[in-house]
Parts: sequence; C-alpha cells; structure tokens
Amino acid sequence: MSVLPSARILAIESSCDETAAAVIQDGRLLLSSIVASQMEIHARFGGVFPEVASRQHVLSIVPVIQQALSAAHLSLAEVDAIAVTRGPGLAGSLVVGLNAAKGLALGLDKPLIGVNHLEGHIYSSWVYEGGQEAPQAPQFPLLALLVSGGHTELNLMTDHLTYRRLGATLDDAAGEALDKTARLLGLPYPGGPSVQKAAEEGDPRAFTFPRARTEQPWDFSFSGIKTAVLREVRRMQAEGTPIPVADMAASFQSAVVGTLLTKTLNAAREYGVKEILIAGGVSANKALREAFLGQQEFKVNIPRFAYCTDNAAMIASAGYFRYALGHRSGMDMDVLPTWPLS
Ligand code: KG4
Ligand code: ZN
Repeated sequence: MSVLPSARILAIESSCDETAAAVIQDGRLLLSSIVASQMEIHARFGGVFPEVASRQHVLSIVPVIQQALSAAHLSLAEVDAIAVTRGPGLAGSLVVGLNAAKGLALGLDKPLIGVNHLEGHIYSSWVYEGGQEAPQAPQFPLLALLVSGGHTELNLMTDHLTYRRLGATLDDAAGEALDKTARLLGLPYPGGPSVQKAAEEGDPRAFTFPRARTEQPWDFSFSGIKTAVLREVRRMQAEGTPIPVADMAASFQSAVVGTLLTKTLNAAREYGVKEILIAGGVSANKALREAFLGQQEFKVNIPRFAYCTDNAAMIASAGYFRYALGHRSGMDMDVLPTWPLS
C-alpha cells in the first residue's frame, strides 16, 4: 500500500459490553474515542449478561456517537465513511452497532465498512493521540499475539490486512482462563484485572502450574493450568487450609504469561519477523507487558492501556485501512475478505 487516501472514519463498536464510537484521521491520528462501559452493571451477575448488554447498547449508542463527533469537532457530513464491528461478538450487542452504522451510511450516502473485531484489536497499535509526534507504525512482517477474552492466536502479518494464522488455543483463551480462575479464587469480575491485582501481593514461585505442550508448536492450551489451580484449591479446602489467593494468582499469571512469551518468541524467530505486536484485553496485563518489554530481541508494539480492551479507535483504524484498500481497488467494501484470511 503506497499512496493512501486521506480520510476521516467514524467507527462504532458494540460487540460485547462496551458501547464505543471514535473518529480517526488517515487510520492513525485519533480525533476522538468514547467508551461507555457497562462493567458495573454486569459485575453483579459475575459476567456479561447478553440481554442486559443489548438493552444498554440501545440506550447508549446515539449519545456515544454524538459525543465522539462533538469531541472531534466534526459534523456527520465531514466524515468520509462509517466503520463498524461486524463480529465476532454477542449477536444481540453487535446488531445494535450494525444497525446504527447502516442507518448512518444509508442516510449520509457514505461507504459502510464491516470490520472484524480481532482485526480491530491488532490495529490498536497504529492508533496515536493528537498532541504527540506520530510514533513509527508497526513494521511488516510482524507477529501478532492476539489475547482477548475469547481468542488467543498467533498471526503472521506480512502487510496491511494480510494475515496467516499460525496457531490458536485448543481450549480456553488466555483471558477466559484468567476470568474463570479469578472466579474460582473468589476474586471479583472482571477476572483479568482482579488476578493482576491479587498477584501483586503474591509470590509467582509459590506454586508450579503445568505449562501445556501442544502437538502443533504455535497452538496454546490453558485449560490444564486452570484445572491445576482448581485441584489445588479443592485439596486445600478438603484439608481446611486457608487458600493463599495472592500466591495462587501470581503463580497462575506467571504460568500464563510465560507460555505466551515463550511461544511468541519462538514463532518470531522461526518466521524471521521484524517486530512483535500484542493486542486484545489481556495485553493490558502489567506482567505480560513487562515480560515482553523485558526482552531485547524484538521490538514489541503494545497499545496504550485505553486501547487494549474494547474500544472503537481500533475499529476506526482497521476500517480506514479497509477503506483505503477498497478505495484503491474499487472493490465493494462489504465483500472485502475478512478475518481469517488463511
Ligand atoms: O479484548 P477484550 O476487552 O474483549 C474481548 O474481545 O474479549 O478482552 C477481555 C479480556 C477479559 O478476559 C479480561 O479479563 C482480560 O481481557 N483483561 C485482562 C486485563 N484487563 C482485561 N487480563 C489480565 N490483566 C488485565 N489487566
Ligand atoms: Zn475485544
């Protein structure tokens, strides 16, 4: 992709429990990003309640879009295209954002760009905020470790929008394992940040949890570590021993982070990539960030905290690059191939 068109993209994200809208200039410079979180509402259920999430999106979607436009000092007429998360996610949540985006695109007669949520996470590393110098964009070929609530994948990215999935989890995603283990240790929702917090007071060497081997070198498996924690908790409960929550959280987090780092570095060497990129909610984890930044072998692109978990800035960035590709090739935006490409 050499000469890219200049464009402002308004993006909408509503795949799970965050209603978000953002405006981005030329795929990187963020003009605004609004996220209405439903976390407190779902906390009392111990997880996302899909029907409640869908209703909250209906209430928030219009104000969130209005706020994103007003924070960017733009009117609807001044945006060039509308991008929206098309999946994966909760059907009843996705449909709210999709319908809003379709309505806007139709009413304004502007292109509608469907963006895969996982592709969006990857593009969070292209986003930067005004008032700072544009950081260098990630360089290809790169290896992207995607660690969200539902997915753990290693993708080789050789150009914009060009991916090859090298491996993925065979059972639980890393985020899912963190969430389930948090529940099992009696830590509050959302699990990932709770495990991180508890782990700060614990010793990561207190317990040795198994790091799973997989038949294919770039696949992952996290259910074994989670079950090992469960077995240890049950054993202590049976003995009447108090559960050392902080030590268990620290040891579990260390096993998860260690597995993610080792596999990613091995794959990065094997495929001779220039850089590594980490993305998805779990990339907000402090121990994971420190582990990746602690090695000197590869440059690592990590999104700013605000763009690790669900947001629309990342959808706007991915949407822009899809728009730019469609712009150049004259392809119909809605039939552009989406994730995964191979
Ligand atoms: O990307 P995301 O916000 O939503 C999905 O697309 O799934 O990822 C959510 C996941 C959850 O499993 C959550 O526990 C985890 O990201 N997470 C974290 C942290 N913040 C969010 N895990 C570990 N440490 C964190 N600080
Ligand atoms: Zn996500």
